[in-house]
Amino acid sequence: MHLHKYERIWLMFGGASLVVFLAVIGITAFFMGDQPPSGAFCAPVFANADTVDPEKVTETPPFNEPGIKKVGENQYVVTMVAYSFGFQPSNIEIPAGAEVYFQVTSKDVVHGFEIPGTNVNMMITPGYVNTIRYTFDEPGNYLILCNEYCGVGHQFMSTTVEVK
Ligand code: CUA
Repeated sequence: MHLHKYERIWLMFGGASLVVFLAVIGITAFFMGDQPPSGAFCAPVFANADTVDPEKVTETPPFNEPGIKKVGENQYVVTMVAYSFGFQPSNIEIPAGAEVYFQVTSKDVVHGFEIPGTNVNMMITPGYVNTIRYTFDEPGNYLILCNEYCGVGHQFMSTTVEVK
């Protein structure tokens, strides 16, 4: 089969790009600790809670009591419920430098959970407990916002984390 010279060049370019992208994913996943939310990162803190009945979120522990809990020397668990259109609890205070584990679920539709300027960015899926770990080194006010269109009040769906 005859391939035109430019076609060969583009095929090689495409193949090489694929190899580069796979290498980037491999290196960040296996050597730099990139993991999807709910990955092995949070396993030591959240032993078994992966799913929750979205109809019974408000009566199922730990989501029956959303809030902040100190679980270690400098470790906190923040339990949050996302709903149309807000987050519960609505204001969170965390000491600077603490290791924070967020566990979030939704009691209605799919929402987002993004803290701009950090690598915290999750899709909050009803029925699942979505977890992520983050350390706020710099004091300040951090915005948590929903980045998944969830209805007419989507643009008002946000809360803050105050790091002291
Ligand atoms: Cu919740 Cu958009």
